Amino acid sequence: MCPSRGPATRRLLTLLSTLFLLASPVLAAVSSSDLLTYLGGAATGQTLKTAAYTLTMAANASSVLVSCAYKGKVSELGWMGWGTGSAMSDADILVLWPNSDGSWTLSHRTAATTVMPTLVGTANKDPSTDSSGSVKVVASLSSKSQTDSPAVVTFVRPLQLPATYKGKGEYYQLKKAINQQVIYAYGMKNPGSSAQDATLTQHPLDGMGATYVDLSATFSATSAAIEAPLSPVKGGSSSGSSAAGGTSAATATAGAASGSSSGAASASAATNVATNGAGSTSGAASPLPSTDPTSSSGSTTDTPGGTAWTYAAVIKMHGICAGATWCVVTSSLASVS
Ligand SMILES: *[C@@H]1O[C@H](CO)[C@@H](O)[C@H](O)[C@H]1NC(C)=O
Repeated sequence: MCPSRGPATRRLLTLLSTLFLLASPVLAAVSSSDLLTYLGGAATGQTLKTAAYTLTMAANASSVLVSCAYKGKVSELGWMGWGTGSAMSDADILVLWPNSDGSWTLSHRTAATTVMPTLVGTANKDPSTDSSGSVKVVASLSSKSQTDSPAVVTFVRPLQLPATYKGKGEYYQLKKAINQQVIYAYGMKNPGSSAQDATLTQHPLDGMGATYVDLSATFSATSAAIEAPLSPVKGGSSSGSSAAGGTSAATATAGAASGSSSGAASASAATNVATNGAGSTSGAASPLPSTDPTSSSGSTTDTPGGTAWTYAAVIKMHGICAGATWCVVTSSLASVS
């Protein structure tokens, strides 16, 4: 009666399976179900597509897995950085890089400002575990070969770090809740040493940022990656829609950009920044190289007074300032030694 029904059904099935493949988890080498298995079968968390790498954070009652997947081969990656906080200056940072023997170094660092972060505590003999012993690389969930692509590194930490943990800032204790503040970056040059206190080269300015992770979202083997929110998310779940409440985040990063601006003001400022953002950003950045590096701690907060910045502009501004400050400090350190 309906001769086309067979082929049509088959086409539909093909379409459905294609859609299913498209919706399947982004981590090829290490899948979401691998992370779930490690966490005992059930977890909450999210996978976010950031400017540096695809970030998965998944938690059970006590532990958090942080998995970073860089779109490229292990041999093409310099390092990946992840931190809890709203900006480098208040973040507790972990930097991870691949070594030639297939291992990964995990380096626990902090930075006074947007300069190269330095090691917390002393370098551990086992470079895959930090000096507190509570944050460590999970080798079974990380890339081993230089040709693995994407390059994935996964580490585990307790949700609540022990009281003896010498972390920095107010954000390092994680909760299974919405809007856990995270910063991220990647570097293109491998430190060339497995030592935790190795010197790092700076991240590309478009390969860094800050975001908000929902550690209470349902996390399953088929959870799809979403775009990393640029401002705090209202309501919850993994919708990924960023509400207009970005003022506090922008304020936290920009510091001096005064917290008085309302959500409505920042929405209208979005248009301003879109039209003249590039000019004002580079203009504001140019005085920085002459800044005395010893007094540079406040230099990243020099934004034009009273202007409400969009978060994207703040990230860009922060990146440019970071670049300038990092160069000044690094070159003065180099000339000292
Ligand atoms: C959470 O994950 C950690 C790390 O694998 C594991 O040791 C712990 O038993 C898990 N907890 C539960 C409740 O499954």
